[in-house]
Amino acid sequence: MSAQIESVLQEGRLFPPPKGFVSKAAIAGMDQYQALCAEAEKDHAGFWARLAREHLVWHKPFSRALDDSNAPFFKWFDDGELNVSWNCLDRHLGTPVENKTAIVFEADDGKVSKVTYRELHERVCRFANGLRALGFQKGERAIVYMPMSVEGVVAMQACARLGIIHSVVFGGFSAKSIHERIIDAGATLVITADEQVRGGKHIPLKPAIDEAFAMGGCDSVRKVVVYRRTGGDVAMQPGRDMAWDEVVAGQSAQCEPAWVGAEHPLFILYTSGSTGKPKGVQHASAGYLLMAALTMKWTFDIKPEDIFWCTADIGWVTGHTYITYGPLACGATQVVFEGVPTFPHAGRFWEMIDRHKVSIFYTAPTAIRSLVKAGESSPDHHPRKYDLSSLRLLGSVGEPINPEAWMWYYTNVGRERCPIVDTWWQTETGGHMITPLPGVHALKPGSCTMPLPGVAAAIVDETGTDVEKGKGGFLVIKKPWPSMIRTIWGDPERFRKSYYPDDFKGRYYLAGDGASRDLDGYFWIMGRIDDVLNVSGHRLGTMEIESALVSNPLVAEAAVVGRPDDMTGEAVVAFVVLKQARPSAEEAKRIANDLRNWVGKEIGAIAKPKDIRFGENLPKTRSGKIMRRLLRSVAKGEEITQDVSTLENPAILDQLKQAN
Ligand code: PRX
Repeated sequence: MSAQIESVLQEGRLFPPPKGFVSKAAIAGMDQYQALCAEAEKDHAGFWARLAREHLVWHKPFSRALDDSNAPFFKWFDDGELNVSWNCLDRHLGTPVENKTAIVFEADDGKVSKVTYRELHERVCRFANGLRALGFQKGERAIVYMPMSVEGVVAMQACARLGIIHSVVFGGFSAKSIHERIIDAGATLVITADEQVRGGKHIPLKPAIDEAFAMGGCDSVRKVVVYRRTGGDVAMQPGRDMAWDEVVAGQSAQCEPAWVGAEHPLFILYTSGSTGKPKGVQHASAGYLLMAALTMKWTFDIKPEDIFWCTADIGWVTGHTYITYGPLACGATQVVFEGVPTFPHAGRFWEMIDRHKVSIFYTAPTAIRSLVKAGESSPDHHPRKYDLSSLRLLGSVGEPINPEAWMWYYTNVGRERCPIVDTWWQTETGGHMITPLPGVHALKPGSCTMPLPGVAAAIVDETGTDVEKGKGGFLVIKKPWPSMIRTIWGDPERFRKSYYPDDFKGRYYLAGDGASRDLDGYFWIMGRIDDVLNVSGHRLGTMEIESALVSNPLVAEAAVVGRPDDMTGEAVVAFVVLKQARPSAEEAKRIANDLRNWVGKEIGAIAKPKDIRFGENLPKTRSGKIMRRLLRSVAKGEEITQDVSTLENPAILDQLKQAN
């Protein structure tokens, strides 16, 4: 890690906030930022309590901000009551926001439709009333497997309105992944669509649900609601499956929300960790919504006239916080896009920014990198060909952004006028944690700059002691914050062990990232320090992919590591020992292809290994431990300089160096 740290710390370019920006920004200048930090420093719980009173509408006010009596199972504002959907929709009724556009939806084929806040409220109420009429109520769990659509947002909001805990499964995940989540969450309801449309192709969704049911054990589910996106031919099981239109038919456009305690779980979102099984990250209602709304204002400086566009999918946390909840809680107008950035051409994003006059654009480095390549090779679709003058702020999320991609984004998309907020956060943190504020921080390409006020981020060594500036270490958050993960659904012990491990005496939240601070106090994220890979901004556990591989009847043993990749950030490399003798080159190609498809079916296409190498064995120590460090070097094609004296079978390295 130290070579990496040295190279980024040499980044000397500095981009101060544009002059006009500072005075109008929600946090206007360094003095205001420091004053907020000082307020939080003086009274951490009191600081968050003030913000929770100012930014949320409470049905019953809370009397206590933080309950840390059962740390690390922290509670925030827990004797207060509210409803998250009410805070996103009803609060705007009777205000000028009521008739404002909430969502501009652009379909894959370019068709545009708009929904006002009043209409969105009606649609959420009708769907919630329909679910209520079917007997669904507070505390039940719903799996949402939906395309990017207004209905996807309506489904999540309707769950929140009834206190039903949603668990959205990204549309790219397989039937097997859905099956695991239905069972782990004990879901009673599934909300899905016939098909999704991406890049001109119809991709089935409902058939994956049927396949999950066919695996058995999904008896907890009482209803599967199916939204017709394409009218594609899907099987409907009488009694269990019901069309969306049937659910809402005849329902009233008013729906009394279920008032819930601040700590009532709002959602579970499964994400990869160091072990085989994905963890169900559980978020609470009030604290989560507070951070979603607050960071829309602080980080994105959202103003009534802005057009906001977050390109994430609602299946990831970014889509939860910066599509379904944050923008609506702030009464913002946002663009929701069904398709992909390169269809029908590589200028789609830029064309859409121009068409909808987007002023705040939030995307991932992986998308930027692919558009750099596409734009440079197809000059007609380069961002300079489009009118991007509506933009005033850009954002990045999901993985470290390399300084070259940052500069391209800044120059070609932002035209050197727009600050870039490089937001560091995680599924577990609920909202932004370390990020530039556009009216405060001078930017350095590749740095997420400084923590938000009230976020006690620090970098420590393995004993939990702060490291000196310029040195690398573990990124931790020293104090609880309102939108933090509450537990892992059904597994509180795993929560404690994963995030508050005994190594740090259980004091700090361990993020799982390596980081360093430079002499100006700027944070630089170096990537995961655990067995988690970041492929195109998607989080994947190496153990998860290994379990998928070894469940194939041909495979005896497998080890998975990451390798840096220019396009996807990291790429999955799998080392596989087959039960049969080592295959010929021809056979190896075929088996590698079969195994890729197998992983696609077990987890989802995003987890398919880019490179599969076969060997008669894996490099192990005499005590039988796989030497992953060595495998990482082999995957990168590096000379092996590590000590291999403890390796039981050194000859194996030569076999594994041969790519298929
Ligand atoms: O390694 C960090 C990386 O993404 C991880 C969190 O992944 P996930 O829970 O899927 O959430 C992604 C969207 C919030 C982190 O542990 N990461 C996220 N944002 C950044 C980042 N790495 C560097 N810079 C970022 N801005």
